[in-house]
Amino acid sequence: MDTAARAESQPATADSVRAYLASQEKKSLLRFLTCGSVDDGKSTLIGRLLSDTKQIFEDQLAALEADSRKHGTTGDDVDFALLVDGLEAEREQGITIDVAYRFFATPKRKFIVADTPGHEQYTRNMATGASTADLAVVLVDARQGVLRQTRRHSIIASMLGIRHIVLAVNKIDLVGFDRQAFERIEQDYRAFAKDLGFRSIVAVPLSARYGDNVSRRSDNMNWYAGPTLVEHLETVVVDDVAAELPFRFPVQYVNRPNLDFRGFAGTIASGSVAAGDEVVVAKSGKATRIRRIVAQGGDLAGAVAGQAVTLVLDDEVEVSRGNMLVAPDARPQVADQFCANIVWFDEQGLLPGRSYILRTETDQTGATVTELKHRVNVNDLGREAAKSLELNEVGVCNLSTRAPIVFDPFSDNRGTGAFILIDRITNATVGAGMIQHALRRAENIHWQSLDVGKRARADLKNQRPAIFWFTGLSGSGKSTIANLLEKKLHVAGRHTYLLDGDNVRHGLNRDLGFTDADRVENIRRVAEVAKLMADAGLIIIVSFISPFKAERRMARELMAGGEFIEVFVDTPFEECARRDPKGLYARALKGEIKNFTGVDSPYEAPENPEIRLQTLGRTAEEMVEIVEQWLIRRDIAADEYESGGGI
Ligand code: ADX
Repeated sequence: MDTAARAESQPATADSVRAYLASQEKKSLLRFLTCGSVDDGKSTLIGRLLSDTKQIFEDQLAALEADSRKHGTTGDDVDFALLVDGLEAEREQGITIDVAYRFFATPKRKFIVADTPGHEQYTRNMATGASTADLAVVLVDARQGVLRQTRRHSIIASMLGIRHIVLAVNKIDLVGFDRQAFERIEQDYRAFAKDLGFRSIVAVPLSARYGDNVSRRSDNMNWYAGPTLVEHLETVVVDDVAAELPFRFPVQYVNRPNLDFRGFAGTIASGSVAAGDEVVVAKSGKATRIRRIVAQGGDLAGAVAGQAVTLVLDDEVEVSRGNMLVAPDARPQVADQFCANIVWFDEQGLLPGRSYILRTETDQTGATVTELKHRVNVNDLGREAAKSLELNEVGVCNLSTRAPIVFDPFSDNRGTGAFILIDRITNATVGAGMIQHALRRAENIHWQSLDVGKRARADLKNQRPAIFWFTGLSGSGKSTIANLLEKKLHVAGRHTYLLDGDNVRHGLNRDLGFTDADRVENIRRVAEVAKLMADAGLIIIVSFISPFKAERRMARELMAGGEFIEVFVDTPFEECARRDPKGLYARALKGEIKNFTGVDSPYEAPENPEIRLQTLGRTAEEMVEIVEQWLIRRDIAADEYESGGGI
């Protein structure tokens, strides 16, 4: 243990406690994360840092010594990896936390290290840890040098906005404290990292196991004149840029306890603000002034990035959650189409066309990747063509959101330039995004307001628009029932259109096959077409396998309330395979057709369809009757509603 750290743990008196707390208050805080290949000694290094700075209690240390003798790989020395790995196992029980934040301090600084487990899910863990980190300690094994994993992690750290790197060349004892080995690795790394935009790279030769150059200067490397790891972490300047950036205040909620008070609560994401300052509401462009800055202890004259405050404005302007108050002379972008880097975390790949939930610091809206421009090769930064992003892959995409969001390019502002993507069905965070810029096209395409509306078009046809969305396995009877339904509606004087999978795939969707990605795109296009047809006032019958819940939900959300009617044509797989009207099941079961629904491609059955048609032993006429009755009941209910409750 170094003497400085020991000074911190002297017996306490009231005065010394007060002095200690005061000194802690004033110390700056450095957040960093560690990364590297699995065997580079990350756990050992973190254990060593915690122990050298006296964060391990004596009894834990004694237990560790005993444990190390039993299970360790270090002979009589303490195996610090056991300590950290032990904590890791504990933590695994709370499955949602995949990053552990460890706290330690020296007389000069406080530290929070994000301990991100490596393994398969490393990008997710890294992204979580890196989102708030100022610096990354990249560990390299002195015997191995810069590896694939070193490069991947460095590229991801750079993408996630980290600007300071420590290259910790570990296990230097195992190469005989060799200066040349160290210098070679440092040169390799600098050559590789020159385009990654790091502001500082400091290489330190060390042995986490024996403590050389961690907090104690090593006697074994007199050739090394640089700082120890801890010295560098204590002194590295990671200028707190957030306070210097333009003012950004994402509104978390509107605080209106009574009619006399209306304030906007949130945490200042960047810049500073003073009472009397002019600010602008980002989404509407409305200008106003700050009347009061209310904080926990009372009103403030000014506040800076990181502070949680409630702002009271001069005028009654409209600012809801997700909107932002910003500096009038340096405004963020507001757009619903933009280009972003995306890191994908999920076992199931990213599918362009699928609707995800996009969440920024305080805003949330639906979003789809409209184009995957390229995948980034995280070993050499090369661009590769790709149709989807798989687990741990990184790509550059165009995205489109349902409502405009407020943002800055990530390279200007890490706080307002980042977002996450959430799967609508599982609610899991599946990706992280860093926005590059808004797309020009978004500025130039506006909604044309039309004089003849949906209601007028439908009224002329004497009907209400509806979308009967038939879903079910191939051969379940969708087309037969849909066809008969249209015939009967037509005879009854309804204006209809039938969109059938097989037919649409001959024209509009001719370019699509049956991979997951293509099916998503198939349904996205059909849903958009159905929406236009509903706008034309038609009753539309859509008959597609549409095997994924996510896309059926997306289609539902595109339509106005009550218009989307999910019809599950519920015929068991065995029956479909027995009927096999097109001979496709026979071929699929022999392996001649790939990705066949129900065979080697999934079908996610609806859980709560408006209509479930169990076709076994029933005729198509009986099925159509059920659907027709449903439509009649819906229209009667709507009439009653409009005439004020069915009198
Ligand atoms: S969907 O999954 O994208 O909704 P869609 O309804 O357009 O599928 O097309 C399904 C029709 O394509 C089936 O009825 C069948 O005739 C034909 N087809 C050809 N190959 C496949 C396949 N691999 N899986 C399912 N259907 C297939």
